[in-house]
Formats: sequence, C-alpha cells, structure tokens
Amino acid sequence: MSKPVILLTRRFPDAVEARAQRDYVTIPNPADTPMSGGEIVAAAERGGAAGILCAAGDALDAQTIGRLPESVRIIATFSVGTDHIDLPAAAARGILVTNTPDVLSVATAEIAMLLILTAARRGGEAERMVRAREWTGWAPTQLMGVTLENKRLGILGMGRIGQALARMARGFGMEIHYRNRNRLGPAEEQAAIHHAEDAAFLGGIDVLSMHIPGGAATRNWLNAERIAMLPRGAIVVNTGRGTTVDDAALCAALASGHLRAAGLDVFAGEPNIYEGYHTTPNLVLLPHLGSATVETRDAMGFRCLDNLDAVLQRNAAPPHPVG
Ligand code: DGY
Repeated sequence: MSKPVILLTRRFPDAVEARAQRDYVTIPNPADTPMSGGEIVAAAERGGAAGILCAAGDALDAQTIGRLPESVRIIATFSVGTDHIDLPAAAARGILVTNTPDVLSVATAEIAMLLILTAARRGGEAERMVRAREWTGWAPTQLMGVTLENKRLGILGMGRIGQALARMARGFGMEIHYRNRNRLGPAEEQAAIHHAEDAAFLGGIDVLSMHIPGGAATRNWLNAERIAMLPRGAIVVNTGRGTTVDDAALCAALASGHLRAAGLDVFAGEPNIYEGYHTTPNLVLLPHLGSATVETRDAMGFRCLDNLDAVLQRNAAPPHPVG
C-alpha cells in the first residue's frame, strides 16, 4: 500500500518529523513560520494531502477549509486549543479534527506557576534591573513582593491544566478556589472550593489564573467590570488564550495599582501584542511557552501522529477527536 500524504504546516520536533517521514509522504514547510490559508490550500492540492498536521498559529478559517481539496480527511492540530480552526466548517466538509489533550497539562501548569511566582516576587523587574546594571546593592525595602503561602488562588477553568496547577500551588501553601462549568468530584473538591458566581469567586481570591479556551463565547471575559471585582492588590495570570482578556482594561488596572501585577503567556493577535504591555513594569510577558518542553512537544507530536495513523492508516476513529 502506498503511504498516505500529509502536509506539515510547521517544523516539528525531530523525533516527530522522523516518525512522520517513516510512515507518510510528507509535504514540509521548511520556513517554520505560519502558512497563509492560500499556501495551505495550494500545498495540500499540489501534494494531494490526505491529512494536515498544523499548529496553533495556522488560521484554518472557514474560507480556507472550504477550499481544501477533497483528498483531505483529517486536520490534526499540534495543540489542545482549537480556536484557530473553524470546527463547523470542517464538520460541513466531513473533515475530522483532532487535538492533543492531557500531554501538555503539567508543562502549561508549570508556566502558570512560573508567572504567578514571577509576578508575586517581581522577578521581571528584578531581572531587568540587574541586566541593565542598575542594581546598587541589597536594601531592606528593595523590590518587595508578596508571599504565596496562605494566599487564595482562583483557577478559572478547572480542566486538566487547572487541576495540575492546583496540585502545584498547594505545595506553596495556597488555598484553591475554582470556577468551572462542572464541579470536581467529591474527593478532589475537598481540597478546592467551588464558586458558582463571578462576584463571589473573584472577590475572594488573591491570585487569578485563567485557563479558559478562546473563541467568541470567552472574548474579553476579564473586562473592567470583572477586574473591579478582584480585591485591590490581586495578581492575574493567563496561560489560556489572549482573547479572553480586555488588554486596555488590564493595562489600566496595572497602572492604577488596583492590580499588583500580572503575567501573560498568551495574547490576542500573537505575535503582535497590545502596545501598552511593552511599557507596563508590573507585567511579566512570555512568548506562548505553555507547552514548550522537549518531553511535551514530542508527546504532542506523537499524539497528532496517533490520530493521523488511526484515520489514514487503519481507517479507524481517531483517539482524540474534537467536537
Ligand atoms: C495549545 O496546545 O493550545 C497551546 O496553547 C499551544 O498551542
């Protein structure tokens, strides 16, 4: 049997590309920058692709999906988030969409914890000061942050990543609160306090960590009104999707001191970020590193290939379908 053809829209880790090349005829994108919709369609057409292995930066909107050749049966995204793919358009074309749940939960929770620690202990400002040769020596009141022990962490979106963060934060002595569509099971809930209302949730926490998906339903979830519900001096971090935060409102709250600090790993319109963020000192900025560990990125790639294998090699249902 001849090998199925798959389009790789980005460069992927070596082990992932090696397995893809062993089992498929691959159409590569040597540039390692996101392909435009037109480029994806043209490459899929030219090579007769049966599958597309894509990543979060690729805009697989309704128009692009509508123009894909008939040969395409599956889009396997190298991400847990799927807001870059128009799922109804894919369903209308009969194209399966799969993602990579579970394997990136711990890595992403680590980045959330890193942002919480860095924001609370002013790590960004401190690092910039030392690097700029502006450190004049130890001083009793220099760059004082806040201790995490006994602080209340509010986790918005208590899925796998939120639960991994809860485990880590308990190690720092934090009390865990959460807001989620579904409640945790009774055993887990003994160690986490559920809230059904935004005001009670936001009003009773010191740190908010956001883990909700992107898309129309969550756009600007953290707006000026909800920021005002947080106690003065609260910290906000986001490792979900940048579109869930109203950038101007966040910047204003950091400037006024209503928020002590914030940390962002995700942004609306990446890699371009809201202009005000560049000059906000009490804000830690990371370039969407949530899942960026060697172990995790390999596992994500293998998960994509497992999905492609099921559909294209065995004519079976993929293990991680979306929708
Ligand atoms: C995801 O998997 O959704 C991460 O944000 C990486 O894209």
